[in-house]
Amino acid sequence: MTNGQTNLFYTGKGPCTAATLLGSGGEGQVYAVTEYPHLVAKIYHTHKATAELHTKLQWMVAHPPTDPCAALKHISIAWPGDILYSDPRCQQFAGYLMPKISGAKKLAAAYHPPTRKQQMPGFTWQYLLCVARNLASSLQAVHNRGYVIGDLNESNVLLFPSALITIIDTDSFQVVTPTQTFRSCVGKPEYTAPESQLRNFSTFDRTIHDDGFALAVLIFLLLAEGRHPFDGVATTVPDCMDIGERIRANWFKMAHAKVGAGVSPPAKCPPFATLPPGIRDLFLRCFVDGATRPSQRPQASNWMRALDVAMQNLSVCTRNPMHAYSTHHRECSWCRRMILHHMADPFPLPGNYRPSPTTAVGRTALKSQPPLPKKTRTMTTATPIPQRKAVIPVPVSQQPAKAIPAKQSITNALSGLGGAKQHVTPIPQSSGIPVKLAQSCRVINNQCSPAVALPSAKPIAPAEKIPAAPPITPSLFGVALPSAQGLKSRG
Ligand SMILES: Nc1ncnc2c1ncn2[C@@H]1O[C@H](COP(=O)(O)OP(=O)(O)OP(=O)(O)O)[C@@H](O)[C@H]1O
Ligand SMILES: [Mg+2]
Repeated sequence: MTNGQTNLFYTGKGPCTAATLLGSGGEGQVYAVTEYPHLVAKIYHTHKATAELHTKLQWMVAHPPTDPCAALKHISIAWPGDILYSDPRCQQFAGYLMPKISGAKKLAAAYHPPTRKQQMPGFTWQYLLCVARNLASSLQAVHNRGYVIGDLNESNVLLFPSALITIIDTDSFQVVTPTQTFRSCVGKPEYTAPESQLRNFSTFDRTIHDDGFALAVLIFLLLAEGRHPFDGVATTVPDCMDIGERIRANWFKMAHAKVGAGVSPPAKCPPFATLPPGIRDLFLRCFVDGATRPSQRPQASNWMRALDVAMQNLSVCTRNPMHAYSTHHRECSWCRRMILHHMADPFPLPGNYRPSPTTAVGRTALKSQPPLPKKTRTMTTATPIPQRKAVIPVPVSQQPAKAIPAKQSITNALSGLGGAKQHVTPIPQSSGIPVKLAQSCRVINNQCSPAVALPSAKPIAPAEKIPAAPPITPSLFGVALPSAQGLKSRG
């Protein structure tokens, strides 16, 4: 029972029955609502249902942000829709109603490779870019309405196979009304900006630059295989395990922005140079320039633009069409990382997938390319993924990816880091990938493409065919990709 001896609650419009428990947290419990199947009820623990929270929620109900995914009929911000009371006269505040979010996964399912393999088959790096972009667009919508999330972290973002996201736990946002500020009194150290570390959140106002820091951390997690930007291995600086301390000491700068500065990147972290130049630039602005000057941090809209450009500048690997990589690399950065680190494929094909010899991609993959090293091939094909439908990953470039001649050198894209160089272990000849490492990057097309909406989430073209990518709108709106699904498995 959630309301004394009953599970009945009331809005001004009538009763609501809190039925199945869907989830719970430190503030309260979330239930399905019998009368409104598309809504859920968040019922606060009795001592949390204060008059102040009541006033805050009343303001929120009356001043919702514009959801950037409204046109896609998707809820990207689970905003309070109505207040709930435990008595029919609506005197005793108990909680609120909000849209029900079903079929979503936790954000970590996207960036934690083993979980991604299980829960998000077909999720390529393009999807990860798109998740980051959709998160940025929802955050921008929140900021546009004058709110600050404050407690932006991975557990408050839910994820769909189409790369759409939903922000939950919105009642913990910081809300500013003309007469009052309702602070966000919670936060996790790993998403907390240096200037807000070690402070009591209930004693100061958060800013959009606090959210800017947390957004950049989440985007780094998404694009760098779950590695935290301030994680690393101390080489010449004093070691510390506390992530808040690492943020204050700016381990990001030492690990990624300045080679040989006392911290090495964490094991198997994709090299910073793997990221597209525009994305790297924003990380440097956020974590280096913004370390002492919070206003230098990119805003959510800056991330949206850079991520749009990154999504338009991807190539597909000819060995594994699940490998989408930035076009500033001349060869697949995922294959390269697997070989360098002898690691499992982060975006594996299903069990015994083989490209079709009847398509251009398949012909290239089967005939023109040298074989992968034995170890890599074994790992690639070892783990079957439950198949739902025979589809191929989403299109990743407006222009079809060009096959890289086998004799071409591998790009050491660190040249984009102001001359910083990284030691790269030569790739053995037996790998089938040439040893010589070039020092230069191709300049990428930094132009946004014309405005067009992406297709909403649904399976795409038949197996073995990679259609041309629709252009992506550099707008404030959400972008849905076709639901990520596993590739077709063959004989
Ligand atoms: N709109 C929703 N639709 C479906 N389930 C939801 C919704 N909102 C929250 N949940 C579920 O309920 C759980 C608790 O919700 P929420 O995070 O809002 O509670 P909380 O008490 O504020 O938690 P915390 O202590 O982390 O702030 C979530 O983790 C999620 O599983
Ligand atoms: Mg909460």
